[in-house]
Amino acid sequence: MGTYYLTTPIYYVNARPHLGHAYTTIVGDALARWHRLLGDDVHFLTGTDEHGLKIQQAADAAGMTPQEFTDSIAPLFEEAWKRLNISHDDFIRTTEARHYAGVQKLLQACLNAGDIELDTYSGLYCVPCEAYFTPEDLDGNNCPIHKRPVEHVVEENYFFRLSRFEQRLLDFYAEHPHAVVPEHRVNEVIGFIKQGLQDFSISRKTLKWGIPLPFDSSHVAYVWFDALANYITAIGYGTDDEMFNKWWPVNHHLIGKDIVRFHNVYWPAMLMSAGIEVPKGWAVGGWLLVGGEKMSKTQGNVVNPLDLVDEIGVDGFRYYVLADTIYGNDGDFTYEGLISRYNSDLANNLGNLAARIATVVEKKCGGLGTAPSPNSTLAPIAQQCVNETSQHWEQVQPSRALEATWQLIRATNAHLENHEPWKSEPGPEVDAVMGDALEALRIVTILAFPAMPDTAREIWRRIGMTTDIENCRIPADTQWGLYPSGAPVIKGDPLFPRRTIS
Ligand code: ME8
Ligand code: MG
Repeated sequence: MGTYYLTTPIYYVNARPHLGHAYTTIVGDALARWHRLLGDDVHFLTGTDEHGLKIQQAADAAGMTPQEFTDSIAPLFEEAWKRLNISHDDFIRTTEARHYAGVQKLLQACLNAGDIELDTYSGLYCVPCEAYFTPEDLDGNNCPIHKRPVEHVVEENYFFRLSRFEQRLLDFYAEHPHAVVPEHRVNEVIGFIKQGLQDFSISRKTLKWGIPLPFDSSHVAYVWFDALANYITAIGYGTDDEMFNKWWPVNHHLIGKDIVRFHNVYWPAMLMSAGIEVPKGWAVGGWLLVGGEKMSKTQGNVVNPLDLVDEIGVDGFRYYVLADTIYGNDGDFTYEGLISRYNSDLANNLGNLAARIATVVEKKCGGLGTAPSPNSTLAPIAQQCVNETSQHWEQVQPSRALEATWQLIRATNAHLENHEPWKSEPGPEVDAVMGDALEALRIVTILAFPAMPDTAREIWRRIGMTTDIENCRIPADTQWGLYPSGAPVIKGDPLFPRRTIS
């Protein structure tokens, strides 16, 4: 128990929220909810990245000022997160005053440290990435991510002396080998640093849409310098020291693999320069591919998560994205995969377990839940399930955590099939079997809450629990034997009606 500060990337407002944004944000939400169940004091931050050339160009194309444009898109993210039941504690927009104040303070701190200097630079720039590439990075003349031509840019700019941080960064990763999960991602970071770090430009003179440098207002801050700072400005850097000291350093920055270089190289170096502690952890996700390509506006293969939610329900969608892809690996989104996982894990497993328990309790136990037995064969299975589920959430492995939780669902369904209480006369034997099944379902419900909060609340209510499931604590409330006998058990409508591919 302690504080747990968790962030998602702040998303560019040049696009509407898509499946990839939803994926990272749902992982963040489930992790935040898991930590609240552990009793941690949680701060979960998300938001939008609203400055830079890319946004300026999108606003121009829409015939709006950048401010009007960002004001029209940022709310779409907030609405999408509401629809997806995202429990963020704060939503930062980089156009907010608190962010301006913090970015200027950070720039000044790096300047004072001697790590920002004026210089001339020429390089190959990709606007969708808002990043320079070396010729070796390119795919022909194309950006390796967006597969479109980069631009040759020459500018006199302020530079951040990243090259000075090579050894400090290597030392940091050597001393903190577990800071990045999954662990294979850290090799990529170390490899990148070892290639040699180039200073990077932190200002733009030709662009107006950004935060002016506090020491030269004819330049605005480079969008990545601005954007990365959100993680500290949102918690009061430059505006509220007490709040900042409470939450920083962050426990986990959740990011996609596309932005590792910025988060694991630029960002810790910027913080080191400014004399601020570096993050405690990063959790790097892979891409959800659609038709084998990364989904993006530039690729034109965007899936709107809200369309899927209308069809499959919020929790069906949340469960699919959490369970179907090993966090850190790429996943392939398919509609068939969504429906098939929904049917197998939700309709046939969890939904079926809840329904058959309620049916038998109604028919054989007078509709009142019975007590679990202390030496049930399900008790050690439940204990192991709690332990494994916890370990996997700790490692930011939602798919493995859910797989561990689902073992208990399967074991409980098998327990019912072995005893066939529906065939027996009412009496102590049936009561014992059902008490054990109810207790296993109660534990599963707590463990599934971070992934499927609405469903968990509903099962909790149907099995007669009167407490608020959000107030449960792991492991205190996931001990075997706490299900109260005599609680009214309600059947209700199917939680997950079977779906066919439409
Ligand atoms: O990069 N699969 O914003 P962005 C999985 N503003 N995750 C995906 C994804 C996909 N196909 N597409 C996007 C930016 N994401 C910057 C970040 S942070 C200081 C600034 C997720 O709108 C993934 O988490 O391009 C990725 O890192 C993030 O969205 C990038 O969102
Ligand atoms: Mg992107």
